[in-house]
Amino acid sequence: MSKDLHMLPSTAIEDRLEAGRLEIDIHLQEIIEKAIAKGHGEVAKLAGQVLLAGGKRMRPLLILLAHEVAGGIDRDQVIPLALAFELIHTATLVHDDINDKAKQRRGVPTIHERAGSEKAMIAGDWLFVQGFALGGRYDVTIVEIMAECCARIASSELQQLAHVNDLATTPEDYYSIVSGKTAQPFAAGCQAAALVAGLGPEQARELGEFGMELGLAFQIVDDLLDILGDERMGKPRGADVIEGKMTLPLIHALTLLHGDSRTRLSEVIVGFNDGLWDELVELLTEAGSLEYARTLVRNHLDRALSILRQFPQSEARDCIESLTQMVIDRYE
Ligand code: IPE
Ligand code: IPE
Ligand code: MG
Ligand code: MG
Ligand code: MG
Repeated sequence: MSKDLHMLPSTAIEDRLEAGRLEIDIHLQEIIEKAIAKGHGEVAKLAGQVLLAGGKRMRPLLILLAHEVAGGIDRDQVIPLALAFELIHTATLVHDDINDKAKQRRGVPTIHERAGSEKAMIAGDWLFVQGFALGGRYDVTIVEIMAECCARIASSELQQLAHVNDLATTPEDYYSIVSGKTAQPFAAGCQAAALVAGLGPEQARELGEFGMELGLAFQIVDDLLDILGDERMGKPRGADVIEGKMTLPLIHALTLLHGDSRTRLSEVIVGFNDGLWDELVELLTEAGSLEYARTLVRNHLDRALSILRQFPQSEARDCIESLTQMVIDRYE
């Protein structure tokens, strides 16, 4: 990806992103502290264990920056929206981890591992409500964008369940699932931030389209890292194959391979266990599936950048470009 000559030096961008993360963390900490002070300590502490455990804060950072790219100048206007999306995102993670039987999230044990699924469900619900309480301050158009986004997460999670261990899952099924469960929240956040900044609906949709492309790349990378493993993820490798989740490299390899390799791949997927890692990666490499997925990531990121560059150059735009680059840097 070519770099713009006018871009801020990378250390200045890094500092700005780090300052943004810190600002978000402080606000989230306050939300937990206020809830404890009001007497909701048990649920707030449970939820806080994952909410405050770190996380890349991609969605709130994008929202703050998209607001600026869209011409917004009053940061206070958009902070509740950024926090709302992070709270809702964390709520989906808490519930997702119950369903996926995940033991770790953001480098710490999941809530259901510490306290059981009943309490984790309640903590997730509480996070959802806190998110909607903040998002509900905005115009009805924005509240509807958030509600539709959550509906799409739910529908695509159900669609994903319907395809567990389904070796006939198509790339179209995969795209429908990941656009709903991951890319839509990125898109909705960027679109809503642009509307808060006062941009017209057409241009706000354009920023939403940027978020969609970025979100697609983000989920494909998450799926690749699940196969290849990366200790920086804060969650263990391999959960997807064990869950029977049909990710893009698997779908691609099942289509490309023939004969014995194809037969073996389906056996490996359906009967997966820890001893089969190397064989799985070999089969995916033989089919060129990891390379294929990486090419798609690049295509989505290139499309995201070309949409973004329709907006005037600014420090905020430089920072979003850098966040976009970070999506692929996680993998390469
Ligand atoms: C995890 O999201 C769920 C996916 C959509 C892949 P993130 O990778 O953004 O998780 P955190 O917020 O940094 O923990
Ligand atoms: C995450 O999907 C999407 C959500 C709606 C939470 P994953 O199941 O792939 O997320 P991780 O890999 O557990 O973070
Ligand atoms: Mg899941
Ligand atoms: Mg999961
Ligand atoms: Mg994943």
